[in-house]
Amino acid sequence: MTEDLIELGKKKAAEKAVEDNVKKNMILGIGSGSTVVYAVKKIAELNKKNDLNLKCIPSSFQAYQLILENELNLTSLDQHPEIDLDIDGADEVDKDLNLIKGGGGCHVQEKIIASNSKKIIIIADFRKNSEKLGQNWKKGVPIEVIPMAYVPVRQKLEKLGGKPKLRMAQSKMGPLVSDNGNFIIDTDFGIIENPVLLNEKLLTIPGVVDTGLFIGLTSKAYIGQKDGSVLIL
Ligand code: A5P
Repeated sequence: MTEDLIELGKKKAAEKAVEDNVKKNMILGIGSGSTVVYAVKKIAELNKKNDLNLKCIPSSFQAYQLILENELNLTSLDQHPEIDLDIDGADEVDKDLNLIKGGGGCHVQEKIIASNSKKIIIIADFRKNSEKLGQNWKKGVPIEVIPMAYVPVRQKLEKLGGKPKLRMAQSKMGPLVSDNGNFIIDTDFGIIENPVLLNEKLLTIPGVVDTGLFIGLTSKAYIGQKDGSVLIL
């Protein structure tokens, strides 16, 4: 039952976000994760029906495959360094629309896409909405690191008060390797009182490529509720 409500929340949020924001001739950033799948399907449906002439830039291998499978036009940041609209999921959204992302390990490219977009719309179900980051998302902040640096980075994360855990691969022994060939250290900082400051500190550690903290990037968040309605923040 709860699983069904979660899927309903994802679908409704994704579809409403697409209906409200996707317009003809747009360059779109396509985020990653399970909620984005619903958005891409809706984009493809509208594109077919109304001949929208959309061009899509993927934020991961998953997004690249989604774009191709749904017969949307693929483009790149090289060709279009300014994106009209980015649609992406999130692991947690706080009251200021700061985010934790990277549960699927794609946050580095997702942040590049988001930071080059005029408008960023986040789509998520009711579990993701929090007052403060770290309240509902208990797996920690995903931090992508250059493999040779992971031990010193881990030590520095501990000094900052975090509980770092190297993300391991599934169906393969050893660490997970990101789309960029790096490792991911999920670091639990408890409830994050000051995400701006934490992000700044993390980004100064040599070997850190980027973090899953998305600060001040989100334009709007569409949160699918249990009753099928969509809360827009
Ligand atoms: C991918 O690395 C993430 O940033 C996703 O956007 C995030 O984990 C949301 O995924 P779901 O839509 O599957 O919850």
